[in-house]
Amino acid sequence: MAEHLIIAEGDKDTKYMTLYSQLEALVENERDLIANMANFAAMIHATFGFLWTGFYRVCGKELVLGPFQGPLACTRIAFGKGVCGSAWKEVSTLVVPDVDMFPGHIACSSESRSEIVVPVFSDGKITGVLDIDSKHTGTFDDTDRQWLERIVELLSKCRD
Ligand code: SME
Repeated sequence: MAEHLIIAEGDKDTKYMTLYSQLEALVENERDLIANMANFAAMIHATFGFLWTGFYRVCGKELVLGPFQGPLACTRIAFGKGVCGSAWKEVSTLVVPDVDMFPGHIACSSESRSEIVVPVFSDGKITGVLDIDSKHTGTFDDTDRQWLERIVELLSKCRD
C-alpha cells in the first residue's frame, strides 16, 4: 500500500471512495486483525478529523477497548450499555445525531456531540464495533453508515 494516506478533495462520498480503495489495498497485503484495525482507525480519523475513531472488541460479555485514535477512552462497556453496547445488542449500526438525546450514552469525552457505531462481523458473529465520535451534532448520516459498513466488512477477511 502507499506509504502515505491520500485524502481526496471534495464531498464526503468522494473522500470515502478514496479511503475505501486504500483500506482495501491494506487488507490485501496484511491479514492481522489488530494491525488493520489500528491503521483503519488512523486512516478514517485523518481523513475526516473526527474527535475519536476506534474499535471495541467483544470479550465475553463486554466490549474491550481496541486500537483507536483520539483522547483517552473507557476500556470496558457491558452488553447493551451505551451506544456501543446497544449496537452490539441490536446487531445493527446506530447513528446518534445528538448524544444528549441517547439514554445511557457513555460520555468518554465531554466534547462528543454525535456518534456512529458500526458492528464488525466475522463468520456471521459480532466480534467488535467501530465507534466514531464527532465534536458536532448531526455529523453522521446514511452516507457514513453505508461506507463504514462496507469498510468494516473488509476486516472480516482478517484474523487475530
Ligand atoms: N460513547 C460510547 C462510549 C465509547 S466512547 O465514545 C469512545 C458509548 O456510549 O457507548
